[in-house]
Amino acid sequence: MSHIRGRFQKPAEKIVADYTQSISFDKRLYRHDIQGSTAHARMLAKQGIIPAADAELIIKGLEEIRGEIEQGRFEFKPELEDIHMAIEARLIEKTGEAGRKLHTARSRNDQVALDIRLYTKDEIVNTLERLTALQGSILTVAEANKAVVMPGYTHMQIAQPVLFPHHMLAYFEMLSRDEDRFRACYNMTDVMPLGSGALAGLPYPIDREFLAQELGFKAITKNSIDAVSDRDFMLEYEAAAAICMMHLSRLAEELVIWTSAEFDFIDLDEGYTTGSSIMPQKKNPDVAELGRGKTGRVYGNLMGLLTTMKGLPLAYDRDLQEDKENFFDTVDTLQSSLEVFAGMMGTMKLKSQNMRRAVERGYILATDLADYLVRKGESFRNAHEAVGKLVSYAAGAGKSLKQLDIKEYQQFSARFSQDVYEISVESSLAARDVPGGTSPSRVNAALKEARQRLSK
Ligand code: ARG
Repeated sequence: MSHIRGRFQKPAEKIVADYTQSISFDKRLYRHDIQGSTAHARMLAKQGIIPAADAELIIKGLEEIRGEIEQGRFEFKPELEDIHMAIEARLIEKTGEAGRKLHTARSRNDQVALDIRLYTKDEIVNTLERLTALQGSILTVAEANKAVVMPGYTHMQIAQPVLFPHHMLAYFEMLSRDEDRFRACYNMTDVMPLGSGALAGLPYPIDREFLAQELGFKAITKNSIDAVSDRDFMLEYEAAAAICMMHLSRLAEELVIWTSAEFDFIDLDEGYTTGSSIMPQKKNPDVAELGRGKTGRVYGNLMGLLTTMKGLPLAYDRDLQEDKENFFDTVDTLQSSLEVFAGMMGTMKLKSQNMRRAVERGYILATDLADYLVRKGESFRNAHEAVGKLVSYAAGAGKSLKQLDIKEYQQFSARFSQDVYEISVESSLAARDVPGGTSPSRVNAALKEARQRLSK
């Protein structure tokens, strides 16, 4: 840290250096730091703030440093505190006086704000790619099982029959909203903070629009104090990630339930399951369980950053260095979760006969019976009551609805006639021919529409 300790008579204590360093985790920003510094050097030369020849040396030096880092030849020294100082110190080693000019008209406060925005933009793009891939495998398993019927549940009790692809498309919609959230987050992030200095702006004729152009930002920040204090875009990412993980966790929970012997609706591919160290028969849905479990950590990361930000006075405070570790963890956790879930969904097999058998249980067509009476002129409330009594009677007699004879039906409503036997799982599905409903024709159209949206 020698090059910034001009005012000190002694070095920081070793335990203090260890405590305050961020190099162990912010080294992952090296590419963005070099990208930012390169644009900065170019701007300084263009504005005549440093000689063009120095800028050339700086840019060449930075390029070499990138190579050293990527080839594992770069020594990250903990006493150099963070990635910004590590790269600058190495640049000075390599280019001497030229390198000493790079930090003109810049502070680490606007530098780190820039780096983390560049990083976040890249990771949003990566996240969106993985979201699309997961949507793709969900859609593929839905399309491959277009006609599979399963029980729909409310309160985890058998409710009404639905098509399996309809159930899958619910997840497709959830992930589409996640994409919208990450796109909105991208727009928030796409604002260039460099040129704010430590907090007050800079007494040099800098060109911030040029920097924005060089670095691919659509706008520049409007207030230098806000620019170095703002981490909203990271909170937005972590919030969108938390919601997205919540979606994965709901899917995970259903997969876990569906693989149990009691349900036995699906088979997860062996590549996405693990064995038990003691029970030889076990094939455990660990990937789904871990996705569900990691959701807690991603929520915690969001709460951590919100708490770090709470009550922080303007402008930069060192607390802000604590923004990174949980953010990186969220980025890694979300992206790996999306990736393994895509693989797991793409390889799972349905046991459609078991799903069908489950549909035949539990008086799943009771609502259809009530709707039948409504069509015959009954009010819905009366119909609901009559069918409720009918179901209770059938359950007491140990009979399914099909096994009741017409006389038994008519004890509960005189409106029942022979055509009541035409009510079936298929008629129940087909009847739900409304936008967003589970009728085969609506679901077919929804699958097509989803496929189109995905290819855009
Ligand atoms: N490592 C610091 C961070 O992550 C960089 C900015 C340091 N600025 C400062 N004034 N000490 O926030």
